[in-house]
Amino acid sequence: MGNIKGTQLAGVYNADGKLATLSISPGFRIHGEMVTKGGDKEYRIWDPNRSKLAAAIKKGLKNWPFAPGKNVLYLGAASGVTVSFISDIVGESGKVYAVEFSPNSMRDLLLRCERRKNVWPILADARLPETYSYVGQVDVLFEDVAQPDQDRILIENARYLKKGGIAMIAVKSQSIDVRLKPKDIYKRVLDSLGKHFDILEKLELDPFEKHHMFIVARKR
Ligand SMILES: C[S@@+](CC[C@H](N)C(=O)[O-])C[C@H]1O[C@@H](n2cnc3c(N)ncnc32)[C@H](O)[C@@H]1O
Repeated sequence: MGNIKGTQLAGVYNADGKLATLSISPGFRIHGEMVTKGGDKEYRIWDPNRSKLAAAIKKGLKNWPFAPGKNVLYLGAASGVTVSFISDIVGESGKVYAVEFSPNSMRDLLLRCERRKNVWPILADARLPETYSYVGQVDVLFEDVAQPDQDRILIENARYLKKGGIAMIAVKSQSIDVRLKPKDIYKRVLDSLGKHFDILEKLELDPFEKHHMFIVARKR
């Protein structure tokens, strides 16, 4: 039985000094993560070395758009590690639309998240948002795709973000241009996003993730 306390971020707990979420699927793990009990509840330990959102929390993230009932469009779901923690946070009344274009990763995501009824897997290219228009309008747009056109992908998908909704992106400078300094790439991305969003927060994710900047922005 762990010592578990809530934090200032809705749905995020401190379990013996580690980040954790309350599992909506007790008894089932996603990637071999540690779990701890608090009363009759099960909490999943959220490793900042495995999830850029957890790394951003460790780096002092202040803007927190996730809460029970929120709808999230997640681009670059991979096998569903971060998706599963957001699924815990938004709970049964929320939804996570999880877009991934690799069939292998999607197969793993389907297996891992099959008990999570609030995860809607979408096998699609995030560069073609018109192929998943059924997602409607969401509260949060999250992107972690490690592509050269990361900023354009976020801007194109913002059509599904409510006005005033929050976008979060983990920018990987090495995927954009290895010849340039990360700080020059971050400036370019911030300038590009700044035309469509108000930038609220920017955090370098080092030492959890090298050459990554986590940006939080509000749709105008
Ligand atoms: C860094 S991994 C994401 C890790 C994941 N966000 C997590 O924290 O669990 C990037 C993922 O984006 C996917 N991806 C890259 N470009 C994409 C695109 N255009 N459309 C959809 N998925 C894409 C890759 O296949 C890969 O699985």
